[in-house]
Amino acid sequence: MNPMRIAVIAGDGIGKDVTAEAVNVLTAVGERFGAPFELDHLPWGADHYLTTGVTLPPDGYDTLRQHDAVFIGALGDPRVPDNRHARDILLGTRFELDLYVNYRPIKLLDERLCPLKGRAPRDIDFVVLRENTEGLYVSVGGRVRAGTEDEIAIQEEVNTWKGVHRIVRHAFEFATARGLTKVCMADKSNAMTSGHALWQRVFREVSAAYPKIEATHYYIDALAMYLVLDPAQFQVIVTNNLFGDIITDLGAALQGGLGMAASGNIHPGRTSMFEPVHGSAPKFAGKNIANPIGAIGSAALMLETLGLNEQAAAIDAAVLAAVKDNQVTQDIGGRLGTREAGDYIASRIRSR
Ligand code: NAD
Ligand code: IPM
Ligand code: MN
Repeated sequence: MNPMRIAVIAGDGIGKDVTAEAVNVLTAVGERFGAPFELDHLPWGADHYLTTGVTLPPDGYDTLRQHDAVFIGALGDPRVPDNRHARDILLGTRFELDLYVNYRPIKLLDERLCPLKGRAPRDIDFVVLRENTEGLYVSVGGRVRAGTEDEIAIQEEVNTWKGVHRIVRHAFEFATARGLTKVCMADKSNAMTSGHALWQRVFREVSAAYPKIEATHYYIDALAMYLVLDPAQFQVIVTNNLFGDIITDLGAALQGGLGMAASGNIHPGRTSMFEPVHGSAPKFAGKNIANPIGAIGSAALMLETLGLNEQAAAIDAAVLAAVKDNQVTQDIGGRLGTREAGDYIASRIRSR
């Protein structure tokens, strides 16, 4: 069998630091299990853009499509104030590869990491399925008379039946496949009475086909409150692109911080992309400070999606061991640097 090919874009800032540790861990997985994958490193990011003027080459998305999966560290650099390269590389990949499921599991690994009082791992264990190809992210709109007091800025939210239907259906299919019993949809249909009426209609119609699954709805503001007051009630949350972006940073905080949170940008059956939820955190870049667990967990989601379940489980077990042994970075109470934390996880994988 040919090895699977994974494109790796370390990107900017701490994206480089944490990607190095995800690669470190993937190398350890290869040593323990035999490597059914090979990594192709792509140089795209702010440095590449600033030297060449190219965010990604004209055949860039095709290059990604020719891989079995894509791993991205993070994109964002203060030298590119309009974030042009991040839009092309990160959002472009989500759109062009039609990665409509942004899969963001929120799982507390140890009570000590949760900022809420008295919450145990069993209380915080749910997934957010964020619509990833439309909503307010489509760049429909524009500015007129920009820079004057007469400026008008319009940014449209696009909701299509097909786009809403496929993510809502995915949420119910996901719950069914995992033996879960609850799906919660969050929108703002009390104020956004056109676009989110479509979410209401689709959720009602799709949920009727899954009578064994309890379908609930919250307005997004109430959901934000319940995520803090009673996160244990959630199993699967499905929501639109922007709301999903915001609540997954809140979800990351419940897990111990942005450094802990992993994600997959998935089109089932096609080349998908995996990245930590956090950004490039420029102030930490290159300082051996960033927590690599979000990136390493994203590598595990990637292997799981590629069908390498045993390998993915080995990564998750090693991460859990690192947290239990407090062999972790400062943001979650340890004393290690990024590299040492990555090495510890890699060594746990090799030694079993
Ligand atoms: P950020 O996620 O980069 O950082 C916010 C804060 O979270 C940091 O200052 C730090 O305190 C903490 N943090 C984040 N990752 C951490 C880690 N691995 N370990 C420890 N602490 C960590 O968000 P920001 O400051 O809003 O954005 C910085 C840049 O990153 C911007 O250019 C933004 O557009 C970009 N961004 C990119 C992505 C992505 O590539 N997927 C995601 C979010 C933000
Ligand atoms: C994320 C990020 C991106 C998003 C930014 C960098 C455009 O915040 O992946 O959560 O908003 O989707
Ligand atoms: Mn975000």
